[in-house]
Amino acid sequence: MGRANKVVLAYSGGVDTSVCIPYLQQEWGVQQVIALAVDLGQGEELGPIQQKALKCGAVESLVANAIEPFVKEFAFPAIQANALYENRYPLSTALARPLIARLLVEAADKYGADAVAHGCTGKGNDQVRFDVAIAALNPDLKILAPAREWGMSREETIAYGERFGIESPVKKSSPYSIDRNLLGRSIEAGPLEDPMSEPPEEIYAMTQSLDKAPDAPDYGEIGFEGGIPVSLDGKVLGAIELIAQLNELAGRHGVGRIDMVENRVIGIKSREIYETPALLALIQAHRDLESLTLTADVTQYKRGLEETYSQLVYRGLWFSPLKEAIDAFIQKTQERVTGSVRLKFHKGHAIPVGRRSPYSLYSPALATYGADDRFDHKAAEGFIYIWGLPTRVWSQQTRA
Ligand code: ARG
Repeated sequence: MGRANKVVLAYSGGVDTSVCIPYLQQEWGVQQVIALAVDLGQGEELGPIQQKALKCGAVESLVANAIEPFVKEFAFPAIQANALYENRYPLSTALARPLIARLLVEAADKYGADAVAHGCTGKGNDQVRFDVAIAALNPDLKILAPAREWGMSREETIAYGERFGIESPVKKSSPYSIDRNLLGRSIEAGPLEDPMSEPPEEIYAMTQSLDKAPDAPDYGEIGFEGGIPVSLDGKVLGAIELIAQLNELAGRHGVGRIDMVENRVIGIKSREIYETPALLALIQAHRDLESLTLTADVTQYKRGLEETYSQLVYRGLWFSPLKEAIDAFIQKTQERVTGSVRLKFHKGHAIPVGRRSPYSLYSPALATYGADDRFDHKAAEGFIYIWGLPTRVWSQQTRA
């Protein structure tokens, strides 16, 4: 009796997930492996990957096009939350995991599988995200993670695959580990493991280097409705199109490169490079529009929750009670985050240089220093008297 009868495996077409197919059957006694490849806008034909899974021994090879739900149900809420893990990483990889988990659970249900599987190792965040999200969606489903247990080196994994006709890459494979989707690329390993060494230009694919970025800026006006980006330069765009166009525009100006040492869930520090042009530009613009449309107290309170939200997403708790409660708060705050923000793209920067909203709380008559000033300056005196009263009492007491 094997560990499971029928397994749905999250399949990327790479060496590890390919080797998982024969491994699950040969070593763990699984009867049937169903491969599931998910299109998240990684810009790769999934047809050949679908074929490859069958060649590796899958009984069924599924492809799910999930770009639209990825953007609408995962990226947009994260933008509304201005989510940046450790104040920098916009979670482009992390956001995909709960969606893949959901698709795995749905496929397992549809095909009557008693387990799902993934190719994550025991060192990363993604195993945590998959396992916890799967458990949240179906606590009875078994989760198999062969790469967490098989203890094979890269070479051994390739050799194992060759025994089952899985071709190892012809050209010397890249030293980098890269995760890519419509929102961005995450690059680690190889020479990047030395945190002091500057990332070579060759690792980037979505962003221009600063020296090659245009000397003249470009502008782009992002329109939001209820905190969701809906247009670029006045043109209403579908969710995917908007991200794609903004990736191009921002990427051309070198916007969205992040080089950081981050704290993984399992306690290791790791050096990761990201390029997330559209996502970072959208967070900049969105946060700026909030400054115009939210009251001071809501803005400030929300900032604290945004940090918690980012930690929850990074740490695999997308489907969790605290995340749901924070979502409800954030949704309420977004009702009037409608309007547009003008961004200036230049040499690695996406700088908000203008903003407007039908719900603007900015009052020119109160803000102006000109002749139209309607603010009652005398009223400030009484306010300051009362505001400063405890400080005055404290000072008199401590100096007595
Ligand atoms: N550190 C990022 C995260 O945990 C990316 C993980 C995948 N990175 C990679 N280069 N394969 O979200």
